[in-house]
Amino acid sequence: MITLKVNGRDHRVDAEPDTPLLYVLRDHLALNAAKFGCGLGQCGACTVIVDGKAVLSCVTPLVLLEGKQVTTLEGLGTTADPAPIQRAFLDEQAAQCGYCIAGMMMRAQALLMRNASPSDDEIRGELEPHLCRCGTHMRILRAIRRAAGLMNRAELAPESGADR
Ligand code: FES
Ligand code: FES
Repeated sequence: MITLKVNGRDHRVDAEPDTPLLYVLRDHLALNAAKFGCGLGQCGACTVIVDGKAVLSCVTPLVLLEGKQVTTLEGLGTTADPAPIQRAFLDEQAAQCGYCIAGMMMRAQALLMRNASPSDDEIRGELEPHLCRCGTHMRILRAIRRAAGLMNRAELAPESGADR
């Protein structure tokens, strides 16, 4: 039994210590945004955020996660109130089949949390571990740029209000 904090909530999980986080999320907690692509750490479809860093959940054993904060796509926003990264992917229609998209968004989110205005080269480099078989790469790039703009504007908004 291990206590796992996911999207701000504690969960007691009864699973073997070497169980991959991806299986726990999908099979124990019914959080299905992270996808099983390769199961070998080679496609990025299973990416979530752990303590602010993008992590491949298919190759991350449960035992390493005690006391850490796990965030999945479900923890960012909702259909009614999407997070900037989700809004930007929708606005750019960045998904085709959508299989890679949750992982792409989570890595992009982790990038934007530490670098509010990444260059195109930095975004491309960050997304290197991710495969998209549909080839929507240019839309994904645009979506991440758009998300950076949305997040930066949101951060500036209170100060602008205070100046008025
Ligand atoms: S499913 Fe984890 S990297 Fe492919
Ligand atoms: S949108 Fe289909 S794999 Fe990327």
